[in-house]
Amino acid sequence: MAIIDLLYQKLARPIFFRFDPETMHEWVMGCLRWARPVKPVLRSYFRIDDPRLAQEIWGLHFANPIGLAGGFDKNALLPDFWDAFGFAFFEIGTVTPLPQPGNPKPRLFRYPADQALVNRMGFNNDGCEAIARRLGESAARRGGPTAVVGVSLGKQKDTPADDLARVIRDYQTSLEALYPHAGFFVVNVSSPNTPNLRDLQEAGPLRQLLSALKERLASLDSPAKPLCLKLSPDLGDDAVRQAVDVALACGIDGFIATNTTNQTGSRESGGLSGKPLRPRSTEVIRLIARQTGGALPIIGCGGIFTAEDAIEKLQAGAWLLQLYTSFVYEGPAVVRNLLRGILELMDRQNLSHVRDWRP
Ligand SMILES: Cc1cc2nc3c(=O)[nH]c(=O)nc-3n(C[C@H](O)[C@H](O)[C@H](O)COP(=O)(O)O)c2cc1C
Repeated sequence: MAIIDLLYQKLARPIFFRFDPETMHEWVMGCLRWARPVKPVLRSYFRIDDPRLAQEIWGLHFANPIGLAGGFDKNALLPDFWDAFGFAFFEIGTVTPLPQPGNPKPRLFRYPADQALVNRMGFNNDGCEAIARRLGESAARRGGPTAVVGVSLGKQKDTPADDLARVIRDYQTSLEALYPHAGFFVVNVSSPNTPNLRDLQEAGPLRQLLSALKERLASLDSPAKPLCLKLSPDLGDDAVRQAVDVALACGIDGFIATNTTNQTGSRESGGLSGKPLRPRSTEVIRLIARQTGGALPIIGCGGIFTAEDAIEKLQAGAWLLQLYTSFVYEGPAVVRNLLRGILELMDRQNLSHVRDWRP
């Protein structure tokens, strides 16, 4: 085990895990803001650059397949930092038009024996204007993007899910505010923590929402920036197929599989992430890849802790990967370790590029 993993897992993590998870998350984010001067040192240690890992997707350069999943940096507090930990892309949000506090605390829980988290945050965020301003300031500071920026869009908690005109307006408002700063957008209709949000995965509302957003994107730019749909692992196989059909008919550019599951068992209620989510999220990737014939990018997300987990998702049809929970459990070297493991397995299997694992 490398010294940095040892330090995190034997020293830092046991201390962190004595405190409330959300308080600790905020504390770590605060410390990282002060750590800007040492970013080059972190970058030189944590980053693995190898042409066998790089891909051009939607005309964007992804230096490796691994990104930071939605929800970690909801408010774009550290947009110029994530590449220092090796991430090739990160997803801001989920963003709503207006700031909102989210659900009452406590709302984030650790389950170390399962290497899992349960959250019921409820789209707490600073609203699209503040987040757009931060992304703009960060781009000016660093003089250009260092990692691809994804922006996750959601609806305001008090917007009724069955008032489609208002729902669409919510997504469009954030899309327009964040447009200059996004490499790609994600439609989040799969969080279990906003009442009835997941009803928007049904064919009728999904068609209207996606068509409206694709139309808006086409009116803003040519070629339009890509729009992805993030799906829930709790949809049955037929419901996944139906959502994919609708999304394809609307001209969707990619999928994220998956969000958290509401099947939390005897744990707190909310959305379960981490190890227990791995098999179902991989199954959903496989379903989407079969239905799209591998023609559209899929971002695989859910329980990726090891290089083998990553490769399982690539073999199921993922083009890119995202993680959240393993960053908490494995620590700052998680991307480095994953990429080194992936390169090692690539050598052993005589593969020349990370895309060669795709079916
Ligand atoms: C505390 C927390 C907050 C999250 N917030 C969001 C969010 O705002 N939007 C979103 O699309 N996904 C959110 N997610 C889900 C993650 O993006 C990801 O889909 C899920 O955690 C599965 O990946 P993992 O097993 O690597 O954590 C959140 C996850 C956690 C743990």
